[in-house]
Amino acid sequence: MKVVPAHRVKGQLRLPGDKSISHRAALIAALANGVSQLSNFSTSRDCASTLSCLEQLGTSITRDNDILSITGRYKLTNAAKPLDCGNSGSTMRMLAGIVARYDFSSELTGDESLRTRPMQRIIEPLELMGAHIRSQERKPPLTIQGSRHLRPISYKLPIASAQVKSCILFAALRADGYTEVVEKNSSRDHTERLFSAFGVPVSTKTPDGGHSVVALKGPARFSAANFLIPGDISSAAYFVAMALLLPGSELVIEGLGLNPTRIEYLSALRSWGANITTSDVRQECNEPVGTLRVRSGLPATKAKDEKRILSDSMIPNLIDELPLLAVVGTQIPGGLEIRNAEELRVKESDRLAATVKNLREMGAEIEEYDDGLAVSGPTRLNGALIDSYGDHRIAMAFSVAALVAEGSSEIGGAECVDISFPEFFKLLETVVER
Ligand code: S3P
Repeated sequence: MKVVPAHRVKGQLRLPGDKSISHRAALIAALANGVSQLSNFSTSRDCASTLSCLEQLGTSITRDNDILSITGRYKLTNAAKPLDCGNSGSTMRMLAGIVARYDFSSELTGDESLRTRPMQRIIEPLELMGAHIRSQERKPPLTIQGSRHLRPISYKLPIASAQVKSCILFAALRADGYTEVVEKNSSRDHTERLFSAFGVPVSTKTPDGGHSVVALKGPARFSAANFLIPGDISSAAYFVAMALLLPGSELVIEGLGLNPTRIEYLSALRSWGANITTSDVRQECNEPVGTLRVRSGLPATKAKDEKRILSDSMIPNLIDELPLLAVVGTQIPGGLEIRNAEELRVKESDRLAATVKNLREMGAEIEEYDDGLAVSGPTRLNGALIDSYGDHRIAMAFSVAALVAEGSSEIGGAECVDISFPEFFKLLETVVER
């Protein structure tokens, strides 16, 4: 994909449904009694992987324009073939929690990238609950021998991961008694919100004001429900960055999910002086949704050479936006440092290495650490040949970099944007002015 620099962006957008929420909504609807209708379901290839795995497990799914109808059943059936989760870590990790509750064996596999990703994080809790899991080096493919008699557990997450928390909560729907997941800092809480909306007895407490404890009483039976899925805030992030970095820009994004565990990106930008406002905030799908308005400009820090730092408890709630923030960091006075983000090394690609390599290619001054990076700013970026490493978030972050660069860029393997946001380049053309 050739990307040429832009003058500014202007206009109004409405984005496809949130990928994280769509995965979870489909999975819980498949287990509910009756037909659930999900509007504005994510158009991403990752969510299509979740749907096709559910179909292989006997779920009936139909799509009529924007509305997905899922006929749920308490008992899923054994899949005849391995369940292909494609590129989607969320599909594999959450589905593992579901198939662990049936007394049949399932094989979960995925593409080349997914087959390199760590699965010990779900193997340990699921085995504690009574499933048996075979793998090579704790990576996919996984063969999961489930059990009808899963045990409830109290489990402290060793890493901040909403996928792992959700895997345990899906398994807990069938365990007999209270399952507890303890998190040091709350990761995204879409599973808890959706479960509550479906009538599952789940609650979250923060006993010492720091740790949070999510508790679910199983076994739970629940009925189908209808939802409008909020627009994807992680997809909006790229448009927000374009508007901030291109002078004279203004964008309005309607119907956008504004869950507090997903807006750390906006909070960080706001704390740096970005002009981002929200309005018309309401609850949909047990999630806050509203209209976002962003105008261009990121002022200098007060102390001239002060570097902005993203680290510690901020990281889990802006993990998917970090490559993009590194790009933004090259354009702001004082630059940006990112630490405690070693999880980026085990995403769809090694996102720290990919970000550093591509930013260097564009002429940025950047240092790489085991757990992060530091960029100087403001720096002029030059158009370059970008490698997406087949990673959708790298392709989109560097499309933003290419729009603010001098000279045109080429993004290799840019079609991977369809993993989360197939409409990205098309929507970009509707707001960009050159
Ligand atoms: C996700 C959680 C995050 C995120 C991923 C989606 C989810 O992963 O990076 O894109 O939907 O729960 P981790 O749970 O591994 O941090």
